[in-house]
Amino acid sequence: MEIEKVRERALELKRLIAENDNLYYVLDAPKIEDHEYDSLLRELASIESAFPELLAPDSPNMRVRGEARSEFTRVAHGTPMQSLDNALDIDELKNFFDRTAKSLGTQDAEWTCEPKLDGLAVSLIYRDGVLERAATRGDGSVGEDVTQNIRTIRTLPLKLCDAPLGALEVRGEVCMSREDFATLNRAREESEEPLFANPRNAAAGSLRQLDHRVTASRNLSIFLYHLEDAASFGVGTQWDMLRRIEGMSLPSQKSRRLCRSMAEIEAYLAEWGEARHWNSINTDGVVVKLNDLALRASLGSTAKAPKWAIAFKYPPEEKRTKLNDILVSVGRTGALTPTAVLEPVSLSGTTVQRASLHNQDEIDRKDIRIGDMVWVHKAGEIIPEVLRVDMEARDGTEKPFRIPGTCPACGAAAVRLPGEAAIRCLNKTCPAQLQEEIAHFVSRQCMDINGIGEKLIAQLTERGTVKSAADLYSLATEDLEALDRMAEKSSRKLIEAIEDSKTRPLSSVINALGIRNVGKKTALDLASRFRSMDRLIASGENELSAIDGVGPVVAASIAAFMGEEHNRRTIERLREAGVRMEEPGSGETPLNAVPYFAGKKFVFTGELQSMSRQEAEKLAESLGAKTSGSVSKKTDIVVRGQNAGGKYNKALALGVEIWDEETFLERVKEGAPARLPEEAPGVP
Ligand code: IVH
Repeated sequence: MEIEKVRERALELKRLIAENDNLYYVLDAPKIEDHEYDSLLRELASIESAFPELLAPDSPNMRVRGEARSEFTRVAHGTPMQSLDNALDIDELKNFFDRTAKSLGTQDAEWTCEPKLDGLAVSLIYRDGVLERAATRGDGSVGEDVTQNIRTIRTLPLKLCDAPLGALEVRGEVCMSREDFATLNRAREESEEPLFANPRNAAAGSLRQLDHRVTASRNLSIFLYHLEDAASFGVGTQWDMLRRIEGMSLPSQKSRRLCRSMAEIEAYLAEWGEARHWNSINTDGVVVKLNDLALRASLGSTAKAPKWAIAFKYPPEEKRTKLNDILVSVGRTGALTPTAVLEPVSLSGTTVQRASLHNQDEIDRKDIRIGDMVWVHKAGEIIPEVLRVDMEARDGTEKPFRIPGTCPACGAAAVRLPGEAAIRCLNKTCPAQLQEEIAHFVSRQCMDINGIGEKLIAQLTERGTVKSAADLYSLATEDLEALDRMAEKSSRKLIEAIEDSKTRPLSSVINALGIRNVGKKTALDLASRFRSMDRLIASGENELSAIDGVGPVVAASIAAFMGEEHNRRTIERLREAGVRMEEPGSGETPLNAVPYFAGKKFVFTGELQSMSRQEAEKLAESLGAKTSGSVSKKTDIVVRGQNAGGKYNKALALGVEIWDEETFLERVKEGAPARLPEEAPGVP
């Protein structure tokens, strides 16, 4: 009887694992946390070791997970791309250490410790130093050919320095930085596309795109950590392998340490456990590898993983706190979004007191009630999220929550339209929607009008002075001086800023209109395709959906928007006010305009490798930027060097655009190829 129950549980576990494998590896959309998944695997493994008769060849513990997606050409790996065994705490790591020491017959072996990058594994083949093929891991034996997409990663050399003749295979990880993940998800939330769960899934989703231009727009990075058949290139240790990889100009993760004892390994784990919070690429653990390649060969591998390495995983950062309330806010498109108000908790370096609950389905799925004790974490180390309710802590006083059927701002009916997750206020004149619309219109990505914040927008719309974005252009200083906290000087400056915004490029104007499903990228595509607002208005749904990057849903949104009388009137009024409605020809672009830098406020933080901070500031200023020593809402760009701390965190919290040093140098080159000052320090 007992065995029957165990068999049933094993089947159930296999089903759950297969279901989650598909969500994770094939659809890039996991529904459970990594550690929950790991515990499913472990439970199954413990059943299989107690009842070996239940260990079938199809057990997930017998194979490396992942499956190639059908749209890509499949490629077989010369040597299987194995996975790693995990150690979930120090005791498990010690067991591994003692076990290998025993097999090796010595406690004195050398170990390398490297951060475990949270991305997706790829194999690259270079022939005579030229990139020939890139493939994902897939199921370990067969992966997907993603050569075209890998080529879009700007830090990856297509030709190596000092590479040997013939074929060379390097392996590593494709990742997305936390900042890029947050920016991407913010844009997706705005255009109501499904969000990525974490940077790793965003990286996987971005690499496995059928259109490599989408991959190119995602700013992926790659780090190499393994050279196949290294011995034949005269490499004898992991340490030298990493040096050789770097010597060929391939990017690698810089933090690493050579350790000679368990105590040294533990010290590295503790240090990286702190430092990893400041690393822009998420690392969820440390890979400990036997350094000597000959000793490795003597230990060999199991079917799934090498016996000479282990991945130590840091425990997930989760905190338990009280959910005091749920607030509902109205977005620009009328979507009612619930937000959890939490008892403040400190989590991965900041204090968290709010977390979006997205929509009613999410609240129902997690059965979240007001007054619950909940577990929270930061998705991708950055976005606060309610993971689950502590059901044991319930005492019956918790209140179930439903998003109201009326808009909290205007009282109009709020409904859920077929096929949508959001409940929407349908009132076109809803004041909350108008305020969000104006906030979007003036935002940095759109008309970039400085000096007009939430409070001012609220006053202008409540008084009826501004009923549409176009009304901004008929504001007079007297209208502004009548408002709270607006003096003559600030009013004049705002009028100037509004005037100045009339010259924004057509793509910014299209983005500013707030067409559903049209974000910055689509606006750029539309502007470069049509080059004038009139041609965009005149285009039909068919013509629109033929444009790369514009699918039928986006085309229908644009057509619906342009079909509405009051939207066309807004556009006409903007035109009459003098807002730019054409894309200028290249001749009209002022020669000294360096779009990345001119007029932008920069803050540099941390240590740069190629120059001092003062030199970098001078360089940015020479291209028209302003620099400052502290980060505020007004900062446009933060350039982050090594060991960046407080300013970097503040920039993350404020959603300021963040560049690493490499991006800064590239933009300097890109922005002003012929105009670099001769004495520009350290620009390669
Ligand atoms: S070595 C034979 N080093 O973790 C295994 N893997 O869970 C060779 N990973 O498949 C892998 N950072 O995708 C290695 N510094 C690192 C890594 C790393 C991340 C990934 C890799 C591997 C997975 C195993």
